[in-house]
Amino acid sequence: MIRRFTWDIVYHESLDSTNSLMYDQVSGDPSIKEGFVIQTGYQTSGRGQIGNTWESKPDKNLICSILLRPEIEVDHQFMISKIACLALVELLNDLDIDDLRIKWPNDIYVGDKKIAGILIQNMLQGKKIKSCIIGIGLNVNQEDFESDAPNPTSVKLLLKEEHSLEQILLSLLDKLAGMCGKLQLKKNIEIDHLYKFLLYRRNQQSEFLDINGIPFMGMIKDVSTSGHLQIVTDQGLKQFAFREIKYVL
Ligand code: BTN
Repeated sequence: MIRRFTWDIVYHESLDSTNSLMYDQVSGDPSIKEGFVIQTGYQTSGRGQIGNTWESKPDKNLICSILLRPEIEVDHQFMISKIACLALVELLNDLDIDDLRIKWPNDIYVGDKKIAGILIQNMLQGKKIKSCIIGIGLNVNQEDFESDAPNPTSVKLLLKEEHSLEQILLSLLDKLAGMCGKLQLKKNIEIDHLYKFLLYRRNQQSEFLDINGIPFMGMIKDVSTSGHLQIVTDQGLKQFAFREIKYVL
C-alpha cells in the first residue's frame, strides 16, 4: 500500500543548520515520523557538500530539511538523490523556468548557473536506510550573492518576480510526495530515465579534473545504480565517486 504523507512543518526564524537540527532531533527521538520538515529563514552555519558552507540571506530563500523513512536498501540510496532532484526540477518547471539540468550528484542548474543544492544525510540500520534527511537550499528571492560559490542564480533573477517561500515549500513537498510514490511503486526505471535525461553536460565533450587535479576530457553518459558518474574517456568508460572528480565550469 502507498504510504500517504502528512507533512509536519516547523519554522524557526534562525538556527545553525536545518540538517544539523534535524539530525539531533531524529537521533534523540527515533519515533519522529516521516514527513517532519524543519524550515528556517536564516542559517548561521548552513552546510553544503564536502564541507562547504551554504550562503543564503535572511528570509530570501527556501531553506529546509525533510525527514523521509524510505524502505530501501543502502545499495539503492542514490535513488533518494534522484527523487529529490526531480522534485525540485518539477517545481521549477512549473514556475516556467527553462533549461533545467541536474549537475551530478544533486545540484540543480539553469543553463550554467546553480539555483539549488541538496545535502542528504542517511542514517542506516543494517543494510537498510532507517531515516534520511534531505536538506534543500533553493535560491528564490535573493539577487546578490557574496560567497565564491560558482555561478549562483535564483528564481527572482530569472523570472524578475518575488515568490512566496511558503508556497514554494508546499509545492516542493507535493512534488516530493509524488516522487516518493513512484519509488514505492518501484518505478525505478522511470526515475532513472528522467534523471539521466536531465544530466548536466550529458553527451557533451567536457573538461574535468581527476582526484589529483589532472585535467582530462570526457563525455558524461549516465550514473550507475551506486551513484557513480559514468564518463567515456580516451581510455574507455570510467566511473567516478563524488570526491574523485571535479567539473571544469
Ligand atoms: C550544496 O550544494 O553544497 C548543498 C547545499 C545544501 C544546503 C541546504 S540549506 C538547508 C540544509 N541545511 C544545511 O545546512 N544545508 C542544507
